[in-house]
Amino acid sequence: NSKKQLDGKTVLVTAGPTREKIDPVRFISNHSSGKMGYALAAEAKRQGANVILVSGPVGITPPDGVELIKVESAEDMFNAVMENFESADVIIKTAAVADYRPKYVYDQKVKKQDGDTTIELERTKDILFELGQRKKNQLLVGFAAETNNVVDYAKKKLIKKNADMIIANNVKVEGAGFGTDTNIVTIVKKDGSITELPLMSKSEVAEKIIEEVSLLLKGLEKK
Ligand code: PMT
Repeated sequence: NSKKQLDGKTVLVTAGPTREKIDPVRFISNHSSGKMGYALAAEAKRQGANVILVSGPVGITPPDGVELIKVESAEDMFNAVMENFESADVIIKTAAVADYRPKYVYDQKVKKQDGDTTIELERTKDILFELGQRKKNQLLVGFAAETNNVVDYAKKKLIKKNADMIIANNVKVEGAGFGTDTNIVTIVKKDGSITELPLMSKSEVAEKIIEEVSLLLKGLEKK
């Protein structure tokens, strides 16, 4: 089969963590390395797609030939995604986006004081939810990072976010989730089908996800 699965398609992938500023020297973030998202961008490119990679701060090299848009905060990622999603046929939201950010960002480094302190947090915008509201005939693929009842939460997320596919990973299991070169995922689709995959490299997981995406795209073309 020499024809590539995603020839002529545009795929928007988000990857990595976001950083939410507290002051000029401090931020709130998470352990996402970008590996899962970059593997998806690489596989989509390999399958012939035009790839836009919206990435939070990571220490790995982007795949050759993809358009890289670097962002820091959840707000930056929201804006970059909204500016680009209309040209995309597929949107894959691998990024670990902060759900909260500091309500006040200090201009100067906050000085330490005696005793405890607190940081007031406010909600960030939910990019996946917003895409679910705005999408026309794009395929929307979300991730779910959970530590328990992974598939149940994924099914709920699929409906609530109006996504076509949710990739659930239990980030507490060894070899799955943040930072590792491997992942263990379950693919939950809108038609109710559930595919549990064993421990695989993130590149192999990416191959499986892109295969499923291509199948769904073919289904859309028939309609
Ligand atoms: O980067 P790696 O080290 O390779 O790790 C990969 C990963 C564990 C980060 C990845 O596989 C993964 O699970 N990514 C999603 C992490 C996450 O934030 O999950 P969530 O359950 O909190 O969010 C669900 C979905 O909503 C995700 O698609 C997320 O991108 C999206 N979201 C979340 C919050 C927000 N404000 N906007 C969003 O779009």
